Amino acid sequence: MVMSVAVAAQERAPKGQASAIADTSLDARVDSILRGMTLEEKVGQLVQYSAGQPTGPGTGRTDYEDMIVHGQIGSLFNVVDPHEINKYQRIAMEKSRLHIPILFGLDVIHGFKTEFPIPLGLASTWDPSIVEKASHVAAMEAAADGIRWTFSPMVDIARDARWGRMAEGAGEDPFLGSAMAAAYVRGYQGTRLDAPDSIASCAKHYVGYGAAEGGRDYNSTEISEHTLRQYYLPPFHAAVEAGTVSLMSAFNSLNGVPSTANPFTLKQVLRKEWGFRGLVVSDWNAVGELIPHGVAADGATAARKAFLAGVDMDMVSSLYHDHLGQVVKSGQATQSELDEAVRHLLRVKLALGLFEHPFVDEGAAAKALYRPESTALAQTAAEKSFVLLQNRSGAGGKALLPLASRAQNFAVIGPLGDDSSYPGGVPEGAGPRVSLPAALAQRVGEDHVSRFKGVGILDGTDEEIAAAVAGAQKADLVILTLGESPDMSGEAASRAHLGLPGRQQELLEAIVKTGKPVVLILFSGRPLTVPWAFEHVPTVIEAWLPGIAAGPALTRTLFGDVNPSGKLVVSWPRSVGQEPLYYNALNTGRPTGDMDLTHPPSDISARYLSRYIDEQNIPQFPFGYGGSYTSYSYGATKISMQRLSAATLNKDLHAGTALTAEADVTNTGSRSGEEVVQLYIELQGTSVAEPVRALKGFQTVAIAPGETRKVKFELKPEAFAIWNDRNQFAAETAKVNVWISPDSAHGSPAQAEILP
Ligand code: NOJ
Repeated sequence: MVMSVAVAAQERAPKGQASAIADTSLDARVDSILRGMTLEEKVGQLVQYSAGQPTGPGTGRTDYEDMIVHGQIGSLFNVVDPHEINKYQRIAMEKSRLHIPILFGLDVIHGFKTEFPIPLGLASTWDPSIVEKASHVAAMEAAADGIRWTFSPMVDIARDARWGRMAEGAGEDPFLGSAMAAAYVRGYQGTRLDAPDSIASCAKHYVGYGAAEGGRDYNSTEISEHTLRQYYLPPFHAAVEAGTVSLMSAFNSLNGVPSTANPFTLKQVLRKEWGFRGLVVSDWNAVGELIPHGVAADGATAARKAFLAGVDMDMVSSLYHDHLGQVVKSGQATQSELDEAVRHLLRVKLALGLFEHPFVDEGAAAKALYRPESTALAQTAAEKSFVLLQNRSGAGGKALLPLASRAQNFAVIGPLGDDSSYPGGVPEGAGPRVSLPAALAQRVGEDHVSRFKGVGILDGTDEEIAAAVAGAQKADLVILTLGESPDMSGEAASRAHLGLPGRQQELLEAIVKTGKPVVLILFSGRPLTVPWAFEHVPTVIEAWLPGIAAGPALTRTLFGDVNPSGKLVVSWPRSVGQEPLYYNALNTGRPTGDMDLTHPPSDISARYLSRYIDEQNIPQFPFGYGGSYTSYSYGATKISMQRLSAATLNKDLHAGTALTAEADVTNTGSRSGEEVVQLYIELQGTSVAEPVRALKGFQTVAIAPGETRKVKFELKPEAFAIWNDRNQFAAETAKVNVWISPDSAHGSPAQAEILP
């Protein structure tokens, strides 16, 4: 049975934005509102402040009530109390001259109150339908609270695990990232933006933010136009095609021009090529940051440059408030440019139905939160997000997982697993949160679970380690919960070291030394370089930051009620020096293939290759990899034809099926499982070097033990198109390899050719 709809190149969002703002019937109302506005009121709509926590550089003004009366604020965010929201809204609706409602925003990233796994975990499900449902729950809860705009999804491609914000996105691949981007937008915005459970989405951070040099947050990026178009832009385009009504401009400079003052990306690509009619908001004080970036000597110039480049709304810097009126009055920007920016915002407000329903029902808000079906979904999402990194046979010749149900004594050891909530913008809510030790105790009885912290995440004493070792010795099985605290990933959480922080490595080694069977559960917002653990602990699960249902989801996974099916959406490094590390890299002129790279190189022919002298090139675990309690075997990839024609493909890249590929996948183990089957292609002989593999399709199939499923992919012409040496998207003559495989590193390809 096919569990989820196949996502192949042909199944991207339909052409033409499926968006409320595409509806030109709103335009007459937009224009009639505009006609009644003064220049100051127009500028006011483009001004946004954070009226709650957190505060930070450039937090602007605080006299919001007075500013609203004077029509000087278009949007507020970080206000989460419905009563407060109504208070501000009442001022706008009753005391301001034009009665234009305020748009309330928030970083609702992976749930509002019902917390889902972090986006990197959600993406590891490879299941866009889960993402869509989760973001719909988030929208329903947030909207009931009065928040109608989320600064999500983050669709930045992340190729470097040092960058902490990898946690907030869908990983390194543009195809998977595009599928996830569209799913978030559909989930937040629903079919009607003015439905009571819909909120506006905001695809961020436009663009290239994930390519920060050295993985250091906010750092500069250098991305060629080819690489930008082929890898970094597609998830944004997918979000636009799926109908996102807003985008956020990023902090980073892109080839020397800050993304918040970049007319090429904001005007040429977004408006002209993609026809985007929605709102562009800057990131936090990103207009103000044009000064330290070095492209504006003062606030007035910063406001002018951001505005002229295409940033409609200024988040917190106050520079539009202070200077935009003068920029227009002096003729540096035209009235019609100002009108156009205001139109972008008014369209969103109208599409949301804010003019008709500006207030939130304060009494009803709580009823939307933590509904049983929402927490059940959070649990399913968590279960599908876990990646079984390894489950080798241990001492008894048998893999440790799944655990037998017979009575045994567990020691849960480690600083994590009690509360894996993630503070990155999500309002903390206690809710029906169940920790791992609590869920385990419910399953096997309180008397059978002992809990030792062992060490803190960053600290710890010899005594604590000794107590944990003593606890391990008394137990039959140790569940070791190590990793990063939630605040070690996300914004401003780049790391130069990717191992276990603090004294956790010491704790790990001390516990392993006891000889007790150990299941290691890693909690983190990125892959961690823990080669010692992979060598010495046969069973390791990556749990990411699993959200509100972490405890039951992990317990059910440990006992095999669910069979892990999550797969990595980022290449897992062996050491930090391999970063940036991504599967869809170019071959180079001196490839190593999958050679075992000895240290130091064995001879001269093995030396002058694109490699390290002291580390492998291959990752610890490749993109797309994830284990299961069963095993699968893949038959040969078969394709419907060996010869394609570039001219035929180019006739309409987005219609029809260019090639069908299929392979038999057999469950060779003794448990039912869900397998994420992937399709990759490689093109050789093109005008621009193409990656060694590129994902073009994936689907999840449920397979019973002993059963074989034929898994079929229908590839549209666009699967074979590239951004060529003239930066046009087209198919070219090439040799083609097509793999249907369990991950990005295995399988043998079927071969085809693209002729003229
Ligand atoms: C800065 C972050 O970069 C962005 O992702 C977020 O939406 C804004 N702050 C607002 O909180």
